[in-house]
Amino acid sequence: MKKTTAAITAVGGYVPDFVLSNKVLETMVDTNDEWITTRTGIKERRILKVENAGTSYMAIKAAEDLLQKRGIEASEIDLVLVATATPDMPVAATAAYVASEIGSSNAFAYDLQAACSSFLYGMSTAASYIESGRYKKVLLIGADKMSSIIDYTDRTTCIIFGDGAGAVLFEPNEEGLGLQDEYLRSDGIGRQFLKIDAGGSILPASEETVKNKQHYVFQDGKSVFKFAVSNMADVSALIMERNNLTNEDVQWLVPHQANKRIIDATANRMGLEAEKVLINIDRYGNTTSATLPLLLHDYEKQLKKGDNIIFAAFGGGFTWGSIYLKWAYNS
Ligand code: UT7
Repeated sequence: MKKTTAAITAVGGYVPDFVLSNKVLETMVDTNDEWITTRTGIKERRILKVENAGTSYMAIKAAEDLLQKRGIEASEIDLVLVATATPDMPVAATAAYVASEIGSSNAFAYDLQAACSSFLYGMSTAASYIESGRYKKVLLIGADKMSSIIDYTDRTTCIIFGDGAGAVLFEPNEEGLGLQDEYLRSDGIGRQFLKIDAGGSILPASEETVKNKQHYVFQDGKSVFKFAVSNMADVSALIMERNNLTNEDVQWLVPHQANKRIIDATANRMGLEAEKVLINIDRYGNTTSATLPLLLHDYEKQLKKGDNIIFAAFGGGFTWGSIYLKWAYNS
């Protein structure tokens, strides 16, 4: 009997209208466009300014875009996963709200949190449900309102992050397309380098934690950079080797958008020319869980059925890994 694989059959995306450019950041903190561009590759990022709107607002927009493009009813979805580091609320699952709002009345829903690797890990989770035959339509959304956890007086973090959402649909495939292999890792040593100190069970919110700005992202950028640059390249090279893929065989690298220099190092290690590397960090910055699906959304027209795609990510925790997937449709 032929093995059922899990293929991506549709994508959707959403970014807020408001653009925060490097030039405007120059007026907010001691930084400059040249530094940001050469160190990170970022020119501008999007910020969600809609009042009382959280991550779900963008997740819903991305999901609705996907459903409309795929031409299916929301009620056909079996499971809604929201990969996010910035849920609407610490306890009520954002995914449950998103599923209800889009009309996925037959789905169950939950959130996945692994910092910048949330979406990559979510691909593994979604694909497993499909491969096992348990469910037929799994909607995986990567969404983050990073502006809700960034200190806009801290020049080391506020220049990096942006808001956005992307969505993919996983469905069974009988042609061998879809997810082929994965190599996912984590190392708890990382939590000292990239974290939010307060608001969790170790240090619940208090007047003190607010005063000390402990609800914002802290990053020791240099240390994270060192781990990220070597690990993302390592796992991407490893997954190619394990699947006997040469640089000629790989059509696209879909890398997490944390820093253009990390992306370039990964592509170099894989022997890929720049044309094969999907990039949107210049326009959106680091949108955390949304980087990978937003890339698929932005480049969807160029992806062809049968293309070999390597996904790679690195994030807080630390969490990281790579996934090898064969694209399943022409749009
Ligand atoms: O997505 C999750 C995983 N995250 C990552 O992968 C991020 C990894 N890290 C990075 O991308 C980089 O480390 C950063 C972009 C965050 C920083 O770049 P860097 O080349 O590592 O700079 P640095 O932290 O070593 O700082 C170099 C200098 C310092 O000044 P001195 O000490 O040399 O005088 C900083 O104070 O640049 C200064 N600096 C800035 N200057 C202008 C730091 N931030 C800024 C800024 N504008 N925004």
